[in-house]
Amino acid sequence: MSPYRGEPRPKLLLTGAGGMLGGMFRQRMPALYDLHACDHAALDITDAAQVEALVERLQPRVIINCAAYARVDDCEKSRELALRVNGEGPGVLARAARKVGAVLVHISTDYVFDGCKDTPYVEDDATAPLSVYGLSKLRGEQAIAAGGLERFFIVRTSWLYGPGGGNFVETIIRLAKEREELRIVADQIGCPTYTRDLVLAVFRLLDTPRHRDIGQNGNPYGIYHFADAGQCSWFEFAEDIVGMLRHHESSLAVKRILPIRTEDYPLPATRPRWSVMSTEKYQRLTGAVVPHWRQSLQDYFEARFA
Ligand SMILES: NC(=O)c1ccc[n+]([C@@H]2O[C@H](COP(=O)([O-])OP(=O)(O)OC[C@H]3O[C@@H](n4cnc5c(N)ncnc54)[C@H](OP(=O)(O)O)[C@@H]3O)[C@@H](O)[C@H]2O)c1
Repeated sequence: MSPYRGEPRPKLLLTGAGGMLGGMFRQRMPALYDLHACDHAALDITDAAQVEALVERLQPRVIINCAAYARVDDCEKSRELALRVNGEGPGVLARAARKVGAVLVHISTDYVFDGCKDTPYVEDDATAPLSVYGLSKLRGEQAIAAGGLERFFIVRTSWLYGPGGGNFVETIIRLAKEREELRIVADQIGCPTYTRDLVLAVFRLLDTPRHRDIGQNGNPYGIYHFADAGQCSWFEFAEDIVGMLRHHESSLAVKRILPIRTEDYPLPATRPRWSVMSTEKYQRLTGAVVPHWRQSLQDYFEARFA
């Protein structure tokens, strides 16, 4: 049942709407919302005057921020830009949201952790980013909390893939057609997440505050972890991608997939070795079941090759 029953259609401002996750939000937007989607050209989240003027004029009930400088390795050499977009931009949105009483949804990342744990990360585990990207995303979380906004959801997610973006699944699909041998890192463990599942999770969170009895103080807002269930290494993920691809493409070049160590594939940004996140808090709040990454990957392939 809609939490806004009997009220005018609530306006929803979507920022970063031209990106991979933004595209999935546009595709899966519930009819309940009156969507105002802004890509980078239409709205720069670091431009406080532009953000404030738009939010003031629109009076959205919800703001979902998908805007980010998300090229993890490029962030190492573009530190200032990363800190401005990922670190300050969310604060700009939070201040604007506070002025008009909107709920802010912001997407963050497992890269705020150092990956030294060996049990799933929970929301209040200590953060210790290893990269400029991770640091900038952590600053963004802190900027939201510092802005005095009470009604926000920060959703940390990991290893995203989906239509309309450069991502690991699409890279492996391309390489499997071009190369006989793929060498893939096997000592980083995480949770692949289909953008479709993250979008559904965000709307479940947004649906919750108005019609559920939640939490000891009745306040559902704050940080949540959401990733598809299960865990794997990039190597295992690649094996499954190629396995599923064989059902859809008969002429693949790839003959072997070899596991390698992180050291054998150096990249500018250091990644956490182990970044499995617990979704227990999300599940407790929403009562939802989180799909297994393997099932979601299969769904992605079926949709992609339909
Ligand atoms: N991809 C992953 O594996 C992953 C994992 C965990 C968390 N996340 C988080 O998920 C969110 C969505 O990521 P994504 O994969 O969809 O990234 P994406 O495809 O790169 O989308 C990000 C969008 O933000 C736009 N943007 C950049 N700077 C902006 C600014 N100053 N103002 C407004 N828009 C701006 C980009 O536009 P231009 O390209 O035109 O600059 C791009 O369209 C991000 O917060 C990211 O940190 C991603």
